[in-house]
Formats: sequence, structure tokens, C-alpha cells
Amino acid sequence: MKLAQRIHRLQPYLFMEISRKINERRAAGADVVTFAIGDPDLPTPSHILRRLLEAAQDPVNHRYPESDGLPEFRSAIARWYHQRFGIALDPDKEVLPLIGAKEGIGHMALCLIDPGDVGLVPDPGYPVYAIGTMFAGGESYFMPLQEENGWLPDLEAIPPEVARRAKVLWLNYPNNPTGAVASLDFFREVVKFAKRYNIAVCHDGPYTEVAFDGYRPVSFLQAEGAMDVGIEFHSLSKTYNMTGWRVGMAVGNRELVNALMRVKSNLDSGIPQAIQVAGIEALTASQACVQEHNAIYVRRRDNLVQALTRLGLRVIPPKASLYVWARIPEGYTSATFATMLLEEQDIVVTPGAGYGAYGEGYIRLSLTLSDADLERAVARLANWHIPPPPRQR
Ligand SMILES: Cc1ncc(COP(=O)(O)O)c(C=O)c1O
Repeated sequence: MKLAQRIHRLQPYLFMEISRKINERRAAGADVVTFAIGDPDLPTPSHILRRLLEAAQDPVNHRYPESDGLPEFRSAIARWYHQRFGIALDPDKEVLPLIGAKEGIGHMALCLIDPGDVGLVPDPGYPVYAIGTMFAGGESYFMPLQEENGWLPDLEAIPPEVARRAKVLWLNYPNNPTGAVASLDFFREVVKFAKRYNIAVCHDGPYTEVAFDGYRPVSFLQAEGAMDVGIEFHSLSKTYNMTGWRVGMAVGNRELVNALMRVKSNLDSGIPQAIQVAGIEALTASQACVQEHNAIYVRRRDNLVQALTRLGLRVIPPKASLYVWARIPEGYTSATFATMLLEEQDIVVTPGAGYGAYGEGYIRLSLTLSDADLERAVARLANWHIPPPPRQR
């Protein structure tokens, strides 16, 4: 058997590797606390589950869904975008339900990238932007995200010859893994850059609703001209604790939405309809649950930031996203530091280098673990002294 080159080029998916390590430690009897994956620990709110259960019992929802989703779901998405961001979307042409944002992101590369084309991809970043580009036969040009630039890419630093070859620019704010946020002014610059080089912008925004201290993240599509160049990926996963149901959406430029719909209609058969009905409920019912979840995350954020700061790590409390991004002491790599935390404290964090070379020197901690787990981890950290780095021992 001869597998395709793209399979040989794949590294193990970051979180599969982490899960393997956690299972290994647990099998050895360890009480492992994990901050690794951004997967909300709290259940899907009960009003959403009730609609899902009802819809699951209706035989009309037992058959193949349409690839472009239920018209009622597309309308609910358009209405939600209008209420939340003031953006008017045509539900039939500018909205596409997805089997989670990850699915749409992976497939989007097939709409934009031909072999040899360039995708502009943030580093550190969610791994799927670069992997989708590679699957489509393209090359990623990694745009460094650095602390001194507020974890925003410096678009002017992209060499013009690279920008001219680029077909797509990937962005993600509020950001995974850094927790950084972007302003509308930054997005306006992005639109100008995209128009100058005729590049499509794919903005991935699944964390716009996970925000703290009164901060309200913006949508890329709020920038003037964004609908001419861009598409935004969104998800019900993080906002409504629905990661397990696999439901998200892409909205924006109709040519991009239509291209994605055409790719998807040839590869998948849409989201199970009962889940779309649950999605309608999530987007149209009271949004009080979102505020309740955020109140829990902010408490966890403050508790964790305090524990990490006491330990001597440099942390800026995030205004949004599910992640605390902490600078580790000099002398460690993010992998050696994460391994030491696991081996000495049975605490799992994600090494920043797993998100790209510019993530080196940082670790990411997700706020999606139970309060009890968080308390156990905080107590362990309070009694831990970071050993001197290997080369100083
Ligand atoms: C930046 C980013 N985009 C997309 C996703 C995937 O979201 P979904 O569950 O909708 O596939 C994640 C999940 O962690 C993410 O962090």
C-alpha cells in the first residue's frame, strides 16, 4: 500500500498526543488535572437539550439533511449576527451551517488553494489553517504573532512577493492560543491589505462570545469592505457548551460562502437536523446562559492567573477566549516545562511550541476544567517551586 505524501507529512494532531500522555499517567494511577483542551466542562444548557431531544424524536429529522442546512437555521444565524454585530446577511447566500468551525476551516482551503499557492497563516495558531493549506497542495507562509505587537500579525512585514502569491489570509480573534483580541481598526487594515493584494480573508471567530470584564469582541465583518473580501467562521461549540454536537457556521462574502457550500455538498451531507434545531434554540432563546458561563470562566481565570503569577510566570489576564497564555521562565522550552509540570505535579498544559515556533517560551492553559480540578491544581502550584532550568542544575 502506498499512502499519499500528505499523510506522511502529518505530525500527530497535537491533542491526540496530549490525550495519549494523560491516559498513560492515569493508567499508572496518577490524579491528573488537565488544562489542555478548550472543551467546556459544563453541560449544554437544558433548554437547548430539550429541543434537541424533541427534534430527535421527529421522523422528519431522521433523514439526510440538506448540505446547506435548514433554511430556519440559516435565518436564525443571520438574525443572531444582526443582533450581535449589526451585520445584515442574506440567509440564503451569505450563511452556511457547518459541522463545527473546524470542518469549514479544513474545507475552505480546497476553495482557495491550488497546488503551489500560498496561505498566510498565523504563528502561533490553531493548527488546522496550515494543515488545510497543506492538504490542498499549498504552502503556508507563517506570520509571526508576537507579544510586542499585541499578538497581531505585522502585515507590512509580509514580503510583497509573498503577498502577491497569497490566496488567503487566516486570522483568529479572540485568539487561540494567546487570548489576544483585535480591534476594528486592525480589521480595517486587514481589509485594505486584502484588497491591495486580492487576497481572501478567513477570520475564525469562535470565541467572540467568551469575553470578560464587560469587553465585547468585534466581528471581522464589521470592518467596512470586509464582506467584499472575507468570510468568518463561527461556532456554537464554545458559546453554548456544544462541542460534542458539532455545529458551527460560515458567514460573509457570497462567492466564498458558495464555494464552500459546493465543496461541502460533494463531501458531506450536512449537520444532523435535530442538531440544527438545537442550534436554532441556542441562537434564538435567552442568552443568559452565555453570561453565566462567562462569570464562571472569569472566576477561574482570576484564580489561575494569581496562582501562576505567584509561581513566577508572567501572565496577562485575557479579556476573551478560554485560554491563559503564560510566559515560562528562561532556560526551559515550552515542552520541557510542560513535561516537568506533568511529571512533578500531574498537571497538563499545552506547550506553546505546539502552535508554531513563535509559541515557544509560553504555555497555554484552558479554563474548561471543573472548579474542583482547578482548586486541586492551584493548591499543587502553591506548594511547588520551579526547579532551576536543566542547564543550571
Ligand atoms: C481557533 C479555533 N477555531 C476553530 C475551532 C473548532 O471549533 P468547532 O468545535 O466549531 O469545530 C477551535 C476549537 O478549539 C478553535 O480554537
